[in-house]
Amino acid sequence: MARRSFAVPVAAALAVVGVGSCFLTGLPHGSQPPRAAPPSAEREVPQPSMEGNSWTAPLLSFGAALGLIFGLVAAQPARAITAEQFSQLTYAQVKGSGLANRCPTVESNGSEVPVKGGSRLVNVCFEPKSFAVEFETDKGKEFSTTKLMTRETYTLAFIEGSLDANPITFKEQDGMDFAATTVKLPDGEYVPFLFTVKELVAKGEGSSFKPGFTWGGEFSVPSYRTGGFLDPKGRGMYLGYDQAVALPAMQSDGQSGQEELFKETNKVFDIGKGVIEMEVSKVNQELGEIGGVFVSKQPSDTDMGAKAPRTVLLKGIFYGKVVNA
Ligand SMILES: *[C@@H]1O[C@H](CO)[C@@H](O)[C@H](O)[C@H]1NC(C)=O
Repeated sequence: MARRSFAVPVAAALAVVGVGSCFLTGLPHGSQPPRAAPPSAEREVPQPSMEGNSWTAPLLSFGAALGLIFGLVAAQPARAITAEQFSQLTYAQVKGSGLANRCPTVESNGSEVPVKGGSRLVNVCFEPKSFAVEFETDKGKEFSTTKLMTRETYTLAFIEGSLDANPITFKEQDGMDFAATTVKLPDGEYVPFLFTVKELVAKGEGSSFKPGFTWGGEFSVPSYRTGGFLDPKGRGMYLGYDQAVALPAMQSDGQSGQEELFKETNKVFDIGKGVIEMEVSKVNQELGEIGGVFVSKQPSDTDMGAKAPRTVLLKGIFYGKVVNA
């Protein structure tokens, strides 16, 4: 099975800080964002350095600069609902209500949630509130606002993993940790991506969660499609035809079109890297609950190796419950 990996370079993450205003502006309707640069033959890019949390501050402050982080905190959804209230709802009450796509909210109680060694973080939820996609312009990289095409099925929920203190380290292990999502750019282009935090290792200094606590880390982004996927011409990675017939114009010249044809034919399972940063805004000491905001960056779908991935920037809210052993 062919596997490759590539990462969202953290250099790009840092560059975001400089183009914040472009993100807000977005693209005028009908304008054409230029295509991303073609992928180089080597899809490996340098892995982001994980020395300290030096990259945490820039992405979060980027979010803050846009007023989104604190806007998210201030503007509680009309149907804010705590985990305890969630647990009392029947299937019929949740079905069709959109609540299944909401993260629980935290009611403040006490000032901090201490973490001991060997704890677990359970019922972790990530609910994106905004989706932006990076594209190249003459002046450099910019983020475009997008229209969400996926219905209310894009939230990650019931995630759990180990939690250790000093520094606080969460290792993601299980749960509904990926959601196939599609957004549309202003020019009509669709950008599918697998929203995920798979294999996340998130760290932050200290041994207790309190408002203002920041933490974050890297995660893996599996291919949007799996090996069993068949493209419109019946080609697949381990199923389907090896190649499509009736592409004479592309094949006959033996030059241009060959690379594109090869990439469409030679399906690969791309594995990317993403980064996420979180800031705790509310804690409930009695229940061990934490809630706050997140900013994450990850690559989009590559159509099984045929296209260069785009960088997707997500902002939203998260929830988790600390269970001390
Ligand atoms: C936290 O909740 C408990 C139980 O409801 C209550 O007794 C306590 O006063 C609360 N503490 C704060 C600081 O609100």
